Amino acid sequence: MNYRHAFHAGNFADVLKHAALIGLFDALQAKPAALCYVDTHAARGMYDLRGEEALKTQEHVDGVQRLLRAPALPIALQRYVDLVRAFQPPGGNDIACYPGSPLIAQRLLREQDRAILCELHEEEAAALRRSLGGDARCAVHQRDGYAAMKALLPPPQKRGLVLIDPPFEAQGAEFTQIQQALADAWTRWPNATYAVWYPIKLRETILPFHRWLHRSAGKADVLVAELLLHPDNSALRLNGCGLAIVNPPWQFDRTLQDWLPALKALLAQGRDGEARVDWLKTA
Ligand SMILES: C[S@@+](CC[C@H](N)C(=O)[O-])C[C@H]1O[C@@H](n2cnc3c(N)ncnc32)[C@H](O)[C@@H]1O
Repeated sequence: MNYRHAFHAGNFADVLKHAALIGLFDALQAKPAALCYVDTHAARGMYDLRGEEALKTQEHVDGVQRLLRAPALPIALQRYVDLVRAFQPPGGNDIACYPGSPLIAQRLLREQDRAILCELHEEEAAALRRSLGGDARCAVHQRDGYAAMKALLPPPQKRGLVLIDPPFEAQGAEFTQIQQALADAWTRWPNATYAVWYPIKLRETILPFHRWLHRSAGKADVLVAELLLHPDNSALRLNGCGLAIVNPPWQFDRTLQDWLPALKALLAQGRDGEARVDWLKTA
């Protein structure tokens, strides 16, 4: 429990995750029926990019800040930038604060939608409650996100999106927990969309998870989007990250293809970057 997202808010991994999250909301909200958004690892919701943690790492400089300086963006990335800008205090042209996944989701919820936001760390959960400002559509649970999946799914709304975004302090153990939680969740809520974020250091540490998804996802389609800034052959740094999406919305592969290569070009840190959108499995 040492992880604090404030050190990483707005970095390249957040850009991929949050731009994809907005795309998933847009696709799922094409229908008027209520949906439930479940964030198993929600964190505090709002980050001060001028605060001590962000100043220490400056990760947002090579993340969200690069998009602000881009002369033109694909529609989906422009929508992401506009949404981040909507959180800024009036009067500035700069990005002083950064919204995490629960605040992005809150902004996108319709009257009929609901959010279940889980965060284990007491201070982070308290900060999240404050950031949400007593929104009756959003329930914050200070508890283990995997146990919450078991206890709270399926929600009354039949349609929904589950974001699983753990800290990966121990990579192998985290994948084991994700697999156990998913295997249980999709028997009880099979038609929900599940998006799992994962870090990429060494490719061989990801492959068992991909194989498991291929083997175990039953009738569900599984789409994978990855953004690599460096070759995936070093355990010493975060070379990239991915999202595995179970039950993606129709043609979501095309939606991702429309902006992921442009994002790779914008965030490149050398010549070895890569953007991938692959079906891991189709029914
Ligand atoms: C990567 S951050 C989440 C970032 C957030 N989803 C976003 O995109 O803005 C992971 C968070 O999970 C919390 N956490 C760690 N273990 C947890 C668990 N078992 N259940 C719920 N939250 C947990 C950490 O305290 C941390 O705030």
